Amino acid sequence: MAVATRAPLIAGNWKMHGTLDDSAELVSMLKKVVARPKDAQMLLCPPFTYLMAVRKWLKESNILLGAQNLSHQPDLGAYTGEVHGSMLKDVGCSFVIIGHSERRQFYGETDDLVAQKFQVAQAAGLTPILCIGETLEQHEKGKTESVVVGQMLAVLKTVGVAAFSNAVIAYEPVWAIGTGRTATPGQAQKVHALIRATISKHDATISSALRILYGGSVKSDNAKVLLSMDDIDGGLVGGASLKAEEFAAIFQAALN
Ligand code: PGA
Repeated sequence: MAVATRAPLIAGNWKMHGTLDDSAELVSMLKKVVARPKDAQMLLCPPFTYLMAVRKWLKESNILLGAQNLSHQPDLGAYTGEVHGSMLKDVGCSFVIIGHSERRQFYGETDDLVAQKFQVAQAAGLTPILCIGETLEQHEKGKTESVVVGQMLAVLKTVGVAAFSNAVIAYEPVWAIGTGRTATPGQAQKVHALIRATISKHDATISSALRILYGGSVKSDNAKVLLSMDDIDGGLVGGASLKAEEFAAIFQAALN
């Protein structure tokens, strides 16, 4: 979190969790934490079905709203079960998570599809949060750097570097997601620096303003040290974002 222009972003990915009542309670507690504008941003990404309700609860709050996924279709149409980016914008989303490892792993999302989603998200006026990260097997084989750079370049070649002036990247080592096993701050920083250097080869200005979040078992007790790393500009938080006190404490750790 070295550069002042990169306001820390703490994003909560609720995944497929919760009820309407749980969500109401969580939001009402978090609103108290972010009662005044802060030098960090909090973002909530609930399931689609709760977006409208969360938007209402967040009225006049400084907390931002985002979605966990969107359709890759550029136009509205007969696509049963899909949700278009313009619909997310319509219900108050400003961000959307793209290419989360769970989507890649369980729903067969490829780099090409992720790149298409990145483009349609921006076309709808949403800021994509592009998730990249290596699996445990890739990690153990020492392939972290080649996998992460490969995932980035696959999107970069389709969308172009200029698109990264309105995007966020989340580095999420798959072996750290929901496992309680976090990358060490040093390991994470090394990959974040590599991600920034990869963008910098194409455009140094865009790269220095780009926010790169770390995700994978971020908790209140490891947030501060992770966020103190030069190239870690926030967190994408799963499990701990469902507990108001935990998530509030992670957010506090991002404040100067
Ligand atoms: P976790 O999930 O914090 O539960 O590890 C992070 C994520 O999947 O975005």
